[in-house]
Amino acid sequence: MLRRLHPEQPESFEFTPTNQDWARAQISKYPEGRQASAVIPLLWRAQEQEGWLTKPALERVGDMLGMAYIRVLEVASFYFMFQLKPVGSVANIQICGTTTCMICGAEDLMAVCKEKIAPKPHMLSDDGKFSWEEVECLGSCANAPMAQIGKDYYEDLTVESFSRILDDLAAGKVPLPGPQNGRFSSEPLAGLSSLKEYESGRTQYNASVALANDIGDTIKRIDGTEVPILTPWLSDGVTPSKPQEPAPVEPAPVRSEPKAEVQPAPVAAAAPAATSDPVELIKPSTALAGQDELSSRKGTWKYEAPVAAAPAKAKPATPAKPAASAKAADPADTSDVQEQQPLTLTAPRDGKADDLKLLKGVGPKLENLLHEMGFYHFDQVAAWTPAEVSWVDNRLTFKGRIERDGWIEQAKKLASGEETDFAKKAKDKGLYD
Ligand code: FES
Repeated sequence: MLRRLHPEQPESFEFTPTNQDWARAQISKYPEGRQASAVIPLLWRAQEQEGWLTKPALERVGDMLGMAYIRVLEVASFYFMFQLKPVGSVANIQICGTTTCMICGAEDLMAVCKEKIAPKPHMLSDDGKFSWEEVECLGSCANAPMAQIGKDYYEDLTVESFSRILDDLAAGKVPLPGPQNGRFSSEPLAGLSSLKEYESGRTQYNASVALANDIGDTIKRIDGTEVPILTPWLSDGVTPSKPQEPAPVEPAPVRSEPKAEVQPAPVAAAAPAATSDPVELIKPSTALAGQDELSSRKGTWKYEAPVAAAPAKAKPATPAKPAASAKAADPADTSDVQEQQPLTLTAPRDGKADDLKLLKGVGPKLENLLHEMGFYHFDQVAAWTPAEVSWVDNRLTFKGRIERDGWIEQAKKLASGEETDFAKKAKDKGLYD
């Protein structure tokens, strides 16, 4: 099926104020230059608000994220969870039509849709309240046949139970999602045959059904005024429309910008702070600048990212450090570690450097970089503390490679005269001769 913009479009789209705050909080979770990562949650919220994704909504999301509109459309048209044409004002019924569900009666469910909603998928019912479509496997095959309605799964359906659900929805009720045949979740129909002790601790509903039952918004349009459970991060710096339960603040992911060499590092900009001002948050990143020709991007950019001080250049001027001193801490663990510059050399001892390329993960370029930083010998690498690993790591192109490739362990062996498998292979193959 072709997925393209609907020929009839509204004039404009705006998030409700609370949804806008929610969207801003989502965006602030990503580092500067990575705001496009918020595209799916923002599109989903726009759809929850409006029922489907309009062209103005796609453009609004593109403006907020500094993305070319075509990029936003690519995402929206790729994922079937996004509706590009109007759907029923009450619910769009998504019937799984993949193998297991088809074998177990999906066609019967679709016959119910044809009778009660519209003869063809993606058509609105006469009253405009319902639409339906066949979708690919929704991952609930053990409870086939099933349908997704709003955010929830209705499983183990029969013609009768499915008809009743549609009737309830038409009557303004929100039927309980989950298995409709009395099953708790996806256990055997005849009951548990093993691990029976879990039956005694069973709650009334399985976790998904319990949450859906608590929230009770399966098919409700989300204008942002009543979704505190789903938005704990709103407690961090933005004002929700409704008092919330205390909730842990979700910290923004921390990710260092890669640095190609030991030069004053590229500017690392802080994520924009959450404010209560209207959107236009993110200055388009340089990573997206090349896509401008694809975009009829518009709008103004309100927040300039503050410029962080560049770290000092590594100076190969300190005296040699005693070789391979005993380190009690685990050098691979650099989490929560303040970086500290290791002692370095201005030149290799006795004028001859070790072949650092015998460390797995170190090629000629990285070896040069290590030399520039003042590291020439295996015993230097072997002696790095976690804080020193962090310092070096932050100056490599890809953070984490020291730990991932086990440089410290390799360096310890090589410094003590042992061979490593990699070093042996590298020498045998003359990899770097
Ligand atoms: S086949 Fe229907 S959920 Fe997987």
